[in-house]
Amino acid sequence: MTYQIINDNCLNVLQNKLIKHNIDLAFLDPPFNQNKEYAYHNDNMNEDKYWSMMTDVCKLVFDLTNNGGAIYFMQREKNTEYVLACLRKTGWFLQNLIIWKKKTSAVPVAGKYGKHYQIIAYATKGEKAKTFNRLRIEPPLPPNYKYQRENGVFLTDVWDDIRELTSGYYAGNEAIRKENGERFHKQQTPLALLVRIILSSSKVGDWILDPFAGTGTTLCVSYQLQRNSIGIEIDPINTELMKKRLDVIREEDLIQKYYKDYICTENLSEIWGSECEVQSETKLIQPLMFKS
Ligand SMILES: C[S@@+](CC[C@H](N)C(=O)[O-])C[C@H]1O[C@@H](n2cnc3c(N)ncnc32)[C@H](O)[C@@H]1O
Repeated sequence: MTYQIINDNCLNVLQNKLIKHNIDLAFLDPPFNQNKEYAYHNDNMNEDKYWSMMTDVCKLVFDLTNNGGAIYFMQREKNTEYVLACLRKTGWFLQNLIIWKKKTSAVPVAGKYGKHYQIIAYATKGEKAKTFNRLRIEPPLPPNYKYQRENGVFLTDVWDDIRELTSGYYAGNEAIRKENGERFHKQQTPLALLVRIILSSSKVGDWILDPFAGTGTTLCVSYQLQRNSIGIEIDPINTELMKKRLDVIREEDLIQKYYKDYICTENLSEIWGSECEVQSETKLIQPLMFKS
């Protein structure tokens, strides 16, 4: 399996057709334009400009995607209408609006309900997905249930079992840290989220694109699931980290621990790729520390 890391603005790369492979699955986790600190990106853009840029990215990714290929576009819930419009305008067919319910307490907001989820719009190029593996999970039984389920349940569009990497102690060891203990990247996505997306919407050997790759979570999971991947990241410091993260997989980044969560899924070993091979391919394991 190969992975390619590109340090550039994703619009440049996509507009200039620098990607030579057709894509089967794209994951978009852009900055949400909420005035967060990014070294190489203005996260406080005029709304129209921001959504025009997102529309361009969605269109360029669409053009690069194989028929039936998928896009997963993550955003904060207040932008749902823009995300849906952006996908519709650029030709994508909406399959699900996934609710990723957070594990930590809701963010209180005056005058309305507290915020407790993020959205992930899942859409395909054409009405029929080229690949959609119906995963089965085993959520805890509700208290009034008498009998254990025999075979889990199909995954739905509400995901409440994946913990976000918050800035607090919950971030645990999965969050990459600087030497002073601060998180390297405040928006690092949990591996478990990418495991779910990649298992659902791709096959072994497929090509996966992340135009806003950050710390490279998508590439790290794709590699271990035997998919090829391309990550584009504008910030050279993040890009360097991504290279190191992929070059030497940390113990915290190993994804074998999630295999059992999907054990009731038909053909899981085929969807996952050979377990043994992945383990033997896994390179040296060591902690990843960065100077502050
Ligand atoms: C929300 S973060 C992605 C985090 C990522 N999912 C992870 O697990 O680390 C968005 C990333 O997009 C990068 N970025 C912003 N504008 C970009 C652009 N035009 N092209 C490529 N990368 C960009 C930022 O530097 C940031 O690292």
